[in-house]
Amino acid sequence: MDLCVIGTGYVGLVTGACFAEMGNEVWCVDVDAAKIEGLKAGKLPIYEPGLDEIVVRNYREGRLRFTTDLGEAMAECDVLFIAVGTPPLEDGSADLQHVLTVARDIGRRLTRYSVIVDKSTVPVGTAERVRRAIQAELDARGVSIPFDVVSNPEFLKEGAAVEDFMRPDRIIVGTDSEAARERMAELYAPFNRSHQRVIHMGVRDAEMTKYAANAMLATKISFMNEIAALCERYGVDVENVRLGIGSDQRIGYHFIYPGCGYGGSCFPKDVKALIAMAQAAGVEPEVLTAVEERNAKQKRVLEEKIVARFGEDLTGRTFGVWGLAFKPGTDDMREAPSIPLIEGLLGRGAKVLAYDPVAMDNARSVFPSAWFEQDRLAFTRHQYDALEGADAMVLVTEWKPFRHPDFAAIKRLLKTPLIFDGRNQYDPQQLERLGIAYVGIGRAN
Ligand code: UGA
Repeated sequence: MDLCVIGTGYVGLVTGACFAEMGNEVWCVDVDAAKIEGLKAGKLPIYEPGLDEIVVRNYREGRLRFTTDLGEAMAECDVLFIAVGTPPLEDGSADLQHVLTVARDIGRRLTRYSVIVDKSTVPVGTAERVRRAIQAELDARGVSIPFDVVSNPEFLKEGAAVEDFMRPDRIIVGTDSEAARERMAELYAPFNRSHQRVIHMGVRDAEMTKYAANAMLATKISFMNEIAALCERYGVDVENVRLGIGSDQRIGYHFIYPGCGYGGSCFPKDVKALIAMAQAAGVEPEVLTAVEERNAKQKRVLEEKIVARFGEDLTGRTFGVWGLAFKPGTDDMREAPSIPLIEGLLGRGAKVLAYDPVAMDNARSVFPSAWFEQDRLAFTRHQYDALEGADAMVLVTEWKPFRHPDFAAIKRLLKTPLIFDGRNQYDPQQLERLGIAYVGIGRAN
């Protein structure tokens, strides 16, 4: 099929590249000319395992094309994906200006029946607004062209996006039209080889499904973080509790890892947007508000534990931070727990040495340049360099090279052998045997 994906951000680029990999002819469109030129030269704006190979190969073989000219792309396509950003507004609700701008652009250029697919995460009712925006342009042109708007939310995880796209748990397709439903079923047929993965539903149902899925996962995490806080007070190891409850299939082992808070571009934004949707509809978002508040607290937990050990004033102290990205496998710094942690430590007069396998370039622009110039914050070339002479090591992101480190080297490098483990990666007993003090999350210490 001939497809057009508008927006070459995370979702758009993965969608475009993976559909091309499945044999479709795909145009990826973006208003950012530098980004489009970069993509043509094989330079990807994001780090995502396996994506560069698919992009470069499909571009070379001509199935994937890049342009800033929507008209050029639309001349050949009748399925158009909207995959532009929906950042939060001040009140937490999703900002739809980019989605609606694209809808108007489409309306100005539409020449034949097309299916317009919302891939961006958008509040319930957005497909209807997209429909009205397109229709208004058609009316202004004095033409009558049929079209359908479909909701097909994306469930990619950063770091596993290509795999998630190619082998999804489910594909949600929300349509109110038989013609669009057939078109979408045809497009996704190659993904259903082993079993039917497409779940058809109404447009509004699909829009809500996306938010409910992310909010449910965020709820599991916040719930577990609260249980972890309880465990600390009652002399319980939350890791045993996690295994104990995860074995119940109704609960499951996924997304019940306590830690230093969830981050990223989705959970924080989507929980806030759902809260705004609830408030706008006169529903008190009691659970969602608690999820959000617990997470805000959780992001301060490591700093609190450090203060409990070293006191409020951290002047003269140095901390070695392992991991900056909001989770392993990505260079994404959005809402990363490392940000409030580093800000908090520096605010108390401490110095921070930090290392991340891929996120250091992005992280550099997150913090004031003066901090680097004044040597209050430095990124190191190697993970162990971040520990040299530090008062303690702080694990924030559980990258694989951090999971089984050289503890003897850690002990040798640190001024005091002490690890704050924000992801419960290490065995407290093992560390005790090695003579390294340990502070985890929800582990009675
Ligand atoms: C999330 C969802 O998992 C995807 O299904 C969804 O498509 C995506 O949002 C989206 O809406 O685009 P992502 O933000 O890439 O994906 O990251 P996750 O792997 O879900 O992790 C989110 C955060 O939760 C991370 O900070 C992670 O460290 C934290 N987390 C995760 C925990 O603290 N505990 C857990 O048990 C699991």
